[in-house]
Amino acid sequence: MKAKYLNGKWQRSMRLRLDYNNMTDEFVGKEQGVSKAELRAESALFADAFEKVQQKRGTGMMGWTELPYNQKEIVEDILAAAKDIRKKFDAFVVLGIGGSALGPIAVMQALRHMRYNELPKAKRKGPKFYVEDNVDPERMKALLDVVDVKKTMFNVVTKSGSTSETMSQYLIIYDLLKQALGKDAASHVIATTSQNKGNLIKLAKQEGFKTFYIPDGVGGRFSELCPVGLLPAAVTGIDIRQLLAGAAYMDKLCREKQLRKNPALVSAALSYLSMKKGKNISVMMPYADSLRFMSDWYCQLWAESLGKAVNFAGEEVFAGQTPVKALGVTDQHSQVQHYREGPFDKVVTFLAVDRYRDEVVIPQGCEEIPDVNFLCGHTMNELIDAERRATEYALTVSRRPNRTIYLPEVNAFTIGELLYFYEMETAFCGEMLGIDTYNQPGVEAGKNATYALLGRKGYESTKEEMEAAKAKKEEFIC
Ligand code: PA5
Repeated sequence: MKAKYLNGKWQRSMRLRLDYNNMTDEFVGKEQGVSKAELRAESALFADAFEKVQQKRGTGMMGWTELPYNQKEIVEDILAAAKDIRKKFDAFVVLGIGGSALGPIAVMQALRHMRYNELPKAKRKGPKFYVEDNVDPERMKALLDVVDVKKTMFNVVTKSGSTSETMSQYLIIYDLLKQALGKDAASHVIATTSQNKGNLIKLAKQEGFKTFYIPDGVGGRFSELCPVGLLPAAVTGIDIRQLLAGAAYMDKLCREKQLRKNPALVSAALSYLSMKKGKNISVMMPYADSLRFMSDWYCQLWAESLGKAVNFAGEEVFAGQTPVKALGVTDQHSQVQHYREGPFDKVVTFLAVDRYRDEVVIPQGCEEIPDVNFLCGHTMNELIDAERRATEYALTVSRRPNRTIYLPEVNAFTIGELLYFYEMETAFCGEMLGIDTYNQPGVEAGKNATYALLGRKGYESTKEEMEAAKAKKEEFIC
């Protein structure tokens, strides 16, 4: 039987909707909002960005555009590996950082039980799941307190195969595995890395690890829909074919030439014009705990892709917007005061869910206190929705630009759509800004400085430069 996510009617019922009324001058005023005339004035730039993305798709660092279509065999291989892991292991640990960690965390949170690891095994039906994306020694010790390496599969994920954080985690874990399992240690490691570059692929070949590849044209922050994200997702029982189908569906929508009909293009145009109006901060505020880590994923994508010192012509532009994560309703009680009354430097994007997967009724009680009793008989679903609409209203009347992306439901299809939507918005916006969306010289600089400090060969001159830097003054330390 044909899977439901391949049915056109069902797909249309799961289409994400972008409501950008409150980004316009009609709702937040001329000074803060974007007018139709401003959109028209830049129409050539937007059309050019659209064309450039079409020309580049599938080439260079835009290999990610094809991931929804070109992984049939890889998906089969991932599903077979995942089935085996689900049967044999008690825990599955991702060792990775940045683009090798944030996607798996976000997708897992969105699509699996929110207390997944705490569920009994019979309900979980898969191994416990951990993503270790830091080199805090206390965190490493804590992990080793809760997993038995003999019953754990470790997925080492690094495209470059040289990231200090991931490689040090690998060294620690592989050493423990060898002590515990001897020759069997290699069967507890899966390497996800570049096929032809870096140290991890060399190690994988030498040790005989099962390996999945990160395609050359797919950068870290665009890699969630390749084995980086698909393997962890499949291991926890997420339908990865549906995830890719959602991405393909969004891709179709984003190939529409007409600005108003192309959600990622219009969103990028609004982001671009907002930046021109001094909106240097982009807040993502999902009203769903399931989507809370989508904000972390988005923050990396937006920050690393658009935060660039120079444009294609080599001119200094210092482009980009600072991404900020918030959670509805939680951050209504911490950040919204600032969003409403602080500087006019932000755009807020709400993520809203039409139908939550559960409903919780607030029972009758407190009849003698009408100010509490008014809540009774409503559902938490109504409450969270009312709070989102209330915040949207409060921001709008204070002339604070905001938009809402509606997900009909949170499922693998809509998450595939959401991921792809943001990747496309980033690609369009990068072209509008005239910058290289896919490099990350700022990240590389930090990586190189770490290598130099820890004495890696080949980084002697960086070390010298660092040592020659101006010494700190005691008078500024108290
Ligand atoms: O987006 C990027 O390229 C980076 O943020 C990387 O994901 C991050 O630095 C980790 O790199 P690697 O996968 O090479 O270990």
